[in-house]
Amino acid sequence: MTDSSSNLSSGVIDAESTDATTSLIALREVDKNYGDVEVLKNINLDIKPGQVTCVLGDNGAGKSTLIKMLAGRHAPSAGAVVLDGEPVTFASPKDALNRGIATVYQDLAVVDQMSVWRNFFLGQEITGFLGQLKADEMRSIAAEELKKMGVNIKDVDVPISTLSGGQRQVVAIARALHFGARVLILDEPTAALGVKQSGMVLRFVRAAADRGVGVILITHNPHHAYLVGDHFILLNMGRQVLDAERDEVTLEQLTLEMAGGGELDSLNHELQR
Ligand SMILES: Nc1ncnc2c1ncn2[C@@H]1O[C@H](COP(=O)(O)OP(=O)(O)OP(=O)(O)O)[C@@H](O)[C@H]1O
Ligand SMILES: [Mg+2]
Repeated sequence: MTDSSSNLSSGVIDAESTDATTSLIALREVDKNYGDVEVLKNINLDIKPGQVTCVLGDNGAGKSTLIKMLAGRHAPSAGAVVLDGEPVTFASPKDALNRGIATVYQDLAVVDQMSVWRNFFLGQEITGFLGQLKADEMRSIAAEELKKMGVNIKDVDVPISTLSGGQRQVVAIARALHFGARVLILDEPTAALGVKQSGMVLRFVRAAADRGVGVILITHNPHHAYLVGDHFILLNMGRQVLDAERDEVTLEQLTLEMAGGGELDSLNHELQR
């Protein structure tokens, strides 16, 4: 693991990374303030094709704020969002989506009563000449795409509310890939899931990266991050306190950093009876 303080001070070097692969999307020395409140300070991030970048941090660390800037929901207060090597200002989340930046929020934007296939095509329906829905076509495409990803859903006509939380996450991932996502942002996809379902979702997270997508995985859970991650960013009260490649950090170090480093040691000491 790189020492976090020296790593932070080398942010400029990170920003001019000599790594051959151009980042799909990047943040350069980004700050974000809400009024007087400084929520993020000097964030540098590079999302590469085929990689899972994990963004870890405690409640309120700034994780959701960070992805909102990548997803076109908020503009940075300072610094730049860089898309395919060029600075970019997204007009809206739709603009970001049109450029291949897909975001799956934790509270999935699904319509519970609607079928799996209707949700799969929500807002992007295939219509005929007179605007009528091409239901059969959408039904078979949704079924095919889910099958391709190895999702075991017997019938795409059932309401999406009948699927498990993990299955719904996977439908959302399959949907984003079908519509051409190059960058896939997942905000705590395993937060509400048990062990088995988390495992299923993480398998699809890895599969998405293996298809060449640049994946950003937001999580509280260092174990989940370490199962699939290639690169790890840790936020602490809006500061980027760790920025490490997989071979620079162990799961134990990640867990310790996540728990506040020394704080965990003293807690451990305190709780020993
Ligand atoms: N629109 C806003 N106006 C003012 N403050 C905000 C706004 N959005 C977020 N914040 C503050 O910014 C900080 C970071 O919030 P953010 O939601 O990014 O954290 P997070 O890491 O996603 O937390 P969690 O793990 O709880 O989802 C918090 O202190 C929050 O109160
Ligand atoms: Mg959040």
